[in-house]
Amino acid sequence: MNVLVVGGGGREHAIIKKLKENQSIDRIYALPGNGGIAMDAICVDIGAKQIDQIAAFAKEHAIDFAVVAPDDPLVLGAVDALEALGIACFGPSKNAAQIEGSKIFAKELMRKFGIPTAQYRVFHDLAPALAYLETAPIPTVVKADGLALGKGVIIAQTREEAMDAVRSMMADKIFGDSGASVVIEEFLTGPEVSVLSFTDGKTLVPMVSSMDHKRALDGDLGLNTGGMGTIAPNPYYTEEMAQRCMREIFLPTIRAMASLGMPFKGCLYFGLMLTPDGPKVIEYNCRFGDPETQVVLPLLKTDLLTIMQAVAQERLDQIEIQWHDGAACCVVAASGGYPQKYQTGYEMTLPQAQANIHLYIAGAKADNGKLLTAGGRVLGLTAVDQTLELAIQKAYQAMAGVHFEGMFYRKDIGQRALAADRSRA
Ligand code: AMP
Ligand code: GLY
Repeated sequence: MNVLVVGGGGREHAIIKKLKENQSIDRIYALPGNGGIAMDAICVDIGAKQIDQIAAFAKEHAIDFAVVAPDDPLVLGAVDALEALGIACFGPSKNAAQIEGSKIFAKELMRKFGIPTAQYRVFHDLAPALAYLETAPIPTVVKADGLALGKGVIIAQTREEAMDAVRSMMADKIFGDSGASVVIEEFLTGPEVSVLSFTDGKTLVPMVSSMDHKRALDGDLGLNTGGMGTIAPNPYYTEEMAQRCMREIFLPTIRAMASLGMPFKGCLYFGLMLTPDGPKVIEYNCRFGDPETQVVLPLLKTDLLTIMQAVAQERLDQIEIQWHDGAACCVVAASGGYPQKYQTGYEMTLPQAQANIHLYIAGAKADNGKLLTAGGRVLGLTAVDQTLELAIQKAYQAMAGVHFEGMFYRKDIGQRALAADRSRA
């Protein structure tokens, strides 16, 4: 069996390593993959947004199953293009991917179907947006409608900051067409939880919950990044909260999508905030989170390909999905300067293989048998252990074996979760 995975970051490496546990897979191709993924898959130099080339490659190489991991190709219709060729896929259609591709679509879906989220207003023109901000409650949150490499959300502490954000999106077009329309929404507070789920459009099975650490520096300081580390499960997400989210958020969302004639099939990611008024949706993603995947998949006991095929064939209700006990912690090592300007091309030293330590390469290229850094986020190290405390310890111990020029990583991944865990015990 030949499998194709679209994408080339740490998340894709985690997906590929998990898929490889299935003995019926002969070959895994990664488009484009990266120098580290090349240890586990055949990397092909086709970019994740080159939909026509991806489809042509899949046809030529007798691909039996495709996993489209990143947001861009999903929103561009990669799954529709592959399915048109008769290739089974894991991932939502272009229509269903709007749930991430357009914040306005997502907000209107939630309003229409009574799914709890922050109060909001939509603006297509600059003047009314600025006029609204004259009296809007502060702090406020300004969001570009479309995809913006994870940078399209500004938490504005002052009116001036909010107006600057709106001007830079709508007038200066810093995110191109993605910022032509904006959502301005209520600022919410509370612990954040990421819940990824498998869904075939009818049945939804949540994965183990997780917590991202989005800021670049310790203590949640510094700029927003793609994610500097994760832990799973998230101690704020109690069994009671999980049941409530299933009832009030998860099932209503997939029913809403189905009722609009765009059933969501694939991984639906719920970015939640547990506010004093109950859980609310901060964002939907139409895909696995990065680096959430790097802590969630190591805890998955059931074969991943089996689940993905059940999703594609709309028989998720017929399989049982099991998880390992214990906890996982992923620490991301980044290039000095990330998320702003950084240098690449530095040789990497990697730790020895160890039980329960998973190395996921996010940004690297192979060069004459060496591995050189080639991105902002370079790699993630995930440790799995019986408790969160042990997993954190083990991840940092393993990190001592990683070196490259300018490398930095947060030293406090999981500390907030650990404190929450302790205060509950
Ligand atoms: P996103 O890019 O949508 O993941 O948003 C980035 C981060 O902004 C989220 O993880 C939250 O921490 C924060 N955020 C987004 N929307 C809100 C909101 N309405 N209130 C408070 N924080 C928010
Ligand atoms: N870690 C958040 C995301 O993947 O969008």
